[in-house]
Parts: sequence; structure tokens; C-alpha cells
Amino acid sequence: MSIIEASNLYKHYTDGFDVLQNVSFDLEEGELVVLVGASGCGKTTLLKMINKLIPVSDGVIRVHGKKLSDWNTIELRRSIGYVIQQTGLYPHMKIDRNIGFVPFVKGIKKSVWKEKARELIRLVGLDESYLSRYPRELSGGEAQRIGVARALAADPDIILMDEPFGAVDEITRKKLQDELKRLHKKLRKTILFVTHDIDEALKLGDRIILFNKGNIEQIGTPEELVFSPKSDYVEEFFGVKGFKASLDEDKLQKMYKSILEGKIDKDHMFKS
Ligand SMILES: Nc1ncnc2c1ncn2[C@@H]1O[C@H](COP(=O)(O)OP(=O)(O)O)[C@@H](O)[C@H]1O
Ligand SMILES: [Mg+2]
Repeated sequence: MSIIEASNLYKHYTDGFDVLQNVSFDLEEGELVVLVGASGCGKTTLLKMINKLIPVSDGVIRVHGKKLSDWNTIELRRSIGYVIQQTGLYPHMKIDRNIGFVPFVKGIKKSVWKEKARELIRLVGLDESYLSRYPRELSGGEAQRIGVARALAADPDIILMDEPFGAVDEITRKKLQDELKRLHKKLRKTILFVTHDIDEALKLGDRIILFNKGNIEQIGTPEELVFSPKSDYVEEFFGVKGFKASLDEDKLQKMYKSILEGKIDKDHMFKS
């Protein structure tokens, strides 16, 4: 069954210009789908609409088969974890309370949410000593891990991630990507992950949705987008054009296999 289903979505903030135009897609249970596209193409807008943070102008979003308008907003947000680049951690709260915030406000017993925080901090690869720190005492990468732990605290089926690793250095980002892959394998949550980074999209996505100015240009597996681009735009975006001419098909296949497995950094390869 589809966990998230978007049908013919439109969004305009002011009259006239449609930020999203006729966007339709389905997310199956347990998939990690990456929404990739240039800055300003409407990725954050789409995530916020799924979360009911901003209203849809036209079209329908269903979560677990139920229209957004039929969902109680609080219940909906509890079934959806949301991870953003700025992490949104509360600066005056220690990490354990930041992680256990939702269970805490739900009135769940202290011993229970504290135990949950202990379990989650290990799950995201940090040790328990971090629980008594404040957010300002974390590196960017650590803060992102806490952001992920917090999103998992209410045990949501769906996680929306908006460029979560955009502000950390290259090495940390690679580590966080590997961790996310491991977590996804283990927990099988349905994840919609937004990025403008092509390598990140190829590495993480079971499927990729490529956005172009509020339109879906192509949806498919990384292999499909790389080897069977539906338009010149897709081919340009993934940098296959021009590069293709200089290599035979066999060599190209091998190289892209390595990129998909995360063994080669595509940007590095094209530069050299
Ligand atoms: N609250 C808003 N009011 C008016 N325009 C907005 C608002 N939020 C975003 N936009 C515009 O909508 C477009 C898409 O923005 P956004 O979804 O944030 O893009 P992305 O996340 O892909 O970078 C941009 O042109 C942006 O300027
Ligand atoms: Mg954005």
C-alpha cells in the first residue's frame, strides 16, 4: 500500500506563479525516496505540505490512504518524523530531553522517555554521555544525529528529511549518509529525503524523484535516471551528457555502478 500519495498537487504562495505544478507520486512502505532538484524548485514546499505546515493550493495528499484534510494535525505530525538542516534542537534543554521531547509532552513517565533517549542515542551511533550535554556542546554532525534520534522518538512510520546533512563537512556527511542507510535497513521506515546533491541522491535513494522548477522531470531508480534519462534535462543534471561520448558503454556502466555503490565521488570523477 502507498504510505504517501500525492495527486496533481499545485502550490502558489501568491497569485499567478505556481511553485509546484501537477506533482503526482507514490511512496511505498519502507522505501527511501530522494527528492532532488536545484535550489528553489519547491522541495521544502512539498515537505511542508505533507506535514500540514502549509496548505495545498490544489490536488490531494493522502497519508496511509487518508486525505490530509481528514487527518488531525497533531496526530499526523506524530506519525511523521521531521529532520531539518538547522536541527531545531531546543538550546536550553539537555540532549536527553531534546530526544524525548514528544514522549515528554505526551506525559509519558520520565523513566520511560529517558530509557527511550538512551536507546536512540546508541542507535544513531553516539554514547550515553551525550545525553547530559546541551546542544551548543555538539559538533554539527553530532547535532544532526540527535535530530534524527529525536525524529524517531515517537516511533513514526514516515520520516521527512530536508537537506539534513547540507551544513556539515564532506567527511561527516559521508558518515551520516552511511548511518542513515544502516538505520533505514534496520528500521524500514518510509523516508522522503530532500537534497540538491546528486551524489547523495544516487547513494541513498531506492528511488529518486527529480524536480525541475516545481515539475517532476523523472521518477525512477538511480540506475534508471542515469542509464535511461527521459529528457535532456535529466541527462544534463546527472552529468552523463558529454561524458558519455568519451567512453564506451561497458566502461560507463562500470563507473556508474561504482558511483551507485558510493565507491567513487561523481564530482571528483568528472573534474579529473
Ligand atoms: N512563504 C513563501 N512565500 C512566497 N514564496 C515562497 C515562500 N516559501 C518559498 N517560496 C518560493 O517558492 C519557491 C520554492 O521554494 P522552496 O520550496 O523553499 O525551494 P527548495 O526547497 O527546493 O529550495 C522559491 O521560489 C521560493 O522563493
Ligand atoms: Mg529547501
